Amino acid sequence: MAASSKANKVIRQQPKLTVVSRLQRDADAQIACQDNLKFMRKLDDESMHLIVTSPPYNLGKEYEEKRSLDIYVEEQMACIAEAVRLLHPRGSICWQVGNHVHKGEIFPLDILLYPIFKKSGLQLRNRIVWTFGHGLHCQNRFSGRHETILWFTKSDDYTFNLDPVRVPSKYPEKKHFKGPKKGTISSNPLGKNPADVWDIPNVKSNHVEKSDHPCQFPVGLVERLVLALTNKGDSVLDPYIGVGSSAIAALKHERNAFGCDLDKDYIATAWERIHALRAGTLRTRPMNKPVYDPGNKSGE
Ligand SMILES: C[S@@+](CC[C@H](N)C(=O)[O-])C[C@H]1O[C@@H](n2cnc3c(N)ncnc32)[C@H](O)[C@@H]1O
Repeated sequence: MAASSKANKVIRQQPKLTVVSRLQRDADAQIACQDNLKFMRKLDDESMHLIVTSPPYNLGKEYEEKRSLDIYVEEQMACIAEAVRLLHPRGSICWQVGNHVHKGEIFPLDILLYPIFKKSGLQLRNRIVWTFGHGLHCQNRFSGRHETILWFTKSDDYTFNLDPVRVPSKYPEKKHFKGPKKGTISSNPLGKNPADVWDIPNVKSNHVEKSDHPCQFPVGLVERLVLALTNKGDSVLDPYIGVGSSAIAALKHERNAFGCDLDKDYIATAWERIHALRAGTLRTRPMNKPVYDPGNKSGE
């Protein structure tokens, strides 16, 4: 996930903890403070319809210990092997990553991890570029403003629902100019395919979803994957769940949520957010809300 600086003081803007929100229970969610291999090994083969996650990038952030890149990739391999075992035949894995950085050199993690998925027999359907406006200002290279999501399926027969994730067409009034449909609207009234470059603000200190996690998913990004790649009642797993953004996206759309994290404070925040969602008080940025552009007065 795109990271904010460790030095940034985090301001929690979500509702305050109440007695009810301390409960770590929900009929449709299994969220635990546990190592992911231990958590995943208890789950049944082919039981997950979507496995969506953002692992640590081996950058030495507050939730990870920096080790050699080889060891990091080996650890990822173990987690990916479990994810492949758990993946439903019609299901999808979405691995969201950025760069590992060492002494100013960048190592794109999707390039390093792609062969592991490919050797496991998965097929890449999209390499989605997630672009965002904020991050570190680099002095010796161009500032990084994108990360990627590798979307794999286990078979050719996979769930893909385009209609729930269509975005407004650029020219909704455009008409066919020749042929039998001449004069009728040519674009889909439900909107267009969102394509594979997603401009979604990353969660920085003034974002409505900002919690105590330095690199959380924007819920709208996961919602798009949940709606497109699963159906109601399906199961969604995030093995590095942090403060539960994937669970929020899944539960919001009547899917079952599974996930784990090593950090008990992140898990406590995940439960607070789930209870706030159920109570109708959780604030999330709407999935397709356009990015604010101060230079565009017309709003187009
Ligand atoms: C990039 S963050 C994911 C944030 C998450 N997407 C969210 O929206 O909050 C990676 C998370 O992986 C967790 N983590 C690292 N190693 C883990 C392990 N072996 N098992 C479970 N969680 C782990 C860290 O504590 C951290 O919260």
